[in-house]
Amino acid sequence: MGGTSGTHDAALDIRGVRVLPGWLDADEQAALVARLRDVAREAPFFRPETPRGKPMSVRMTAAGRYGWVSDRRGYRYEPRHPSGVPWPPIPDEVLAVWRAVTGLDRAPDCCLVNWYGEGARMGLHQDRDEADFAWPVVSVSLGDAALFRVGGTERGGRTASVWLRSGDVAVLEGESRLAFHGIDRIRHGSSSLLQQGGRINLTLRVVD
Ligand code: SIN
Ligand code: FE2
Repeated sequence: MGGTSGTHDAALDIRGVRVLPGWLDADEQAALVARLRDVAREAPFFRPETPRGKPMSVRMTAAGRYGWVSDRRGYRYEPRHPSGVPWPPIPDEVLAVWRAVTGLDRAPDCCLVNWYGEGARMGLHQDRDEADFAWPVVSVSLGDAALFRVGGTERGGRTASVWLRSGDVAVLEGESRLAFHGIDRIRHGSSSLLQQGGRINLTLRVVD
């Protein structure tokens, strides 16, 4: 998984976010997608809405002890899918990426699965529903390329952007753990990894 396949492109530093281009090769990406199909069979994708009732453009599901959900009751972690079933376990292949890029023994509690169809985006936000910001956030990109924007820890400051492509991994750690970030757009049709097209982003986090 990534680290075992030998050489890697150099890491990029995007405002403190560590971007690892091409961390997963094509076979590793396909294996992950197969495992995510199993996850989505047990915990189907749903379309969350913001606390103000606006439907989000991404579809979401999750694996692990907690899933992150959003609805009129607010943003929060929940131990169950909205249908009432527990979230499936985080696939081993996903845990292996976390271990390889963080070096941590502690496993993440949540693997959020975001699916971006044509036109989907994610506004600038901070990940701050977790108990301890000393743990990093690891993000894995699969499928269509996405324009990822990163700012500082205050809203409205200078930002930098990078295209995240299928197989890229990004780590928000240290100063960048609470950086504002978002997805401006995806380049629909730029990858054929996903049968239905679009992009999947996995976000791995320690919750409590
Ligand atoms: C997120 O920050 O929730 C998603 C980031 C991404 O899709 O790469
Ligand atoms: Fe985020």
